[in-house]
Amino acid sequence: MNDFHDGINKGVAPVTYGQGERPPRGDYASAGSDYTCAQRWGDYTAEQHALYRRLHERQTAQLPGLACDEFIDAVRHLGAAERIPRFEDINAKLKPATGWQIVAVPGLIPEEAFFALLAERKFPVTEWLRKPEEFDYVVEPDVFHDLFGHVPLLFNPVFADYMQAYGAGGLKASRLDACELLARLYWYTVEFGLIQTKQGLRAYGAGILSSAGELRHSVCSPEPRRVAFDLKRLMRSRYKIDSYQATYFVIDAFEQLFDATAPDFAPVYAEVRALPLIEAGVVLPGEREFAAG
Ligand code: PHE
Ligand code: CO
Repeated sequence: MNDFHDGINKGVAPVTYGQGERPPRGDYASAGSDYTCAQRWGDYTAEQHALYRRLHERQTAQLPGLACDEFIDAVRHLGAAERIPRFEDINAKLKPATGWQIVAVPGLIPEEAFFALLAERKFPVTEWLRKPEEFDYVVEPDVFHDLFGHVPLLFNPVFADYMQAYGAGGLKASRLDACELLARLYWYTVEFGLIQTKQGLRAYGAGILSSAGELRHSVCSPEPRRVAFDLKRLMRSRYKIDSYQATYFVIDAFEQLFDATAPDFAPVYAEVRALPLIEAGVVLPGEREFAAG
């Protein structure tokens, strides 16, 4: 059952940041007002480095044929991953590539702080690593999910611009009281997105790519529904936080994400609010579905 749960809450949508019933895991006393902290790389133990390496090896082994090429090509920037990477070493490559940087955070952070960092092209990476007994399933995002899942695509210029625009859009959504709608966009793209390529369906979402089981499930299983990306449809779609996704949204190219989200969302939010929600796993009449890859 644990394996079944793998990869789900590791992709926590920003709307839930810091609002769970449990206090988030992590040492918040060491964080600054923007919630960033030091990575304290020297505090990781040899066992933690070894656990990270096993996670990295398990995931890289299953990328071919399941992850998109942009992700596979960029994973090498994380290094050999014999140990937990130093964030400064990643930044030495990432900053010149797309102007992004990663910053350490104690764990989940409030959504406004999260949006503000993204808008500055800073991606918050949790400093702590899951425990050995959480090898297959961890409830909150840890350093492995954040680094392995999210950082490779920050090397892609189009995706990198989308992430910054999302952060700026999040600050605006906070003012419009629309964070829940915008969080669904993050969930179904950044965390659980699929992309149609010439070679077939592939994953680009971090929650999928850092998951031992959901990667194959999302691309190959006949069970879930796979629907073409549509902004308003997606903002109406509820999602699962305690199982694999029942619905995935499929894009054709990263440009599609950027272009579809460029217009002003104020009228989009108003329109979507007036429409009923769609349960996970439900496909509407006339919707185009993608077969398993
Ligand atoms: N265009 C959106 C707005 O006006 C901002 C946004 C961009 C949101 C990219 C998400 C992703 O609110
Ligand atoms: Co994530």
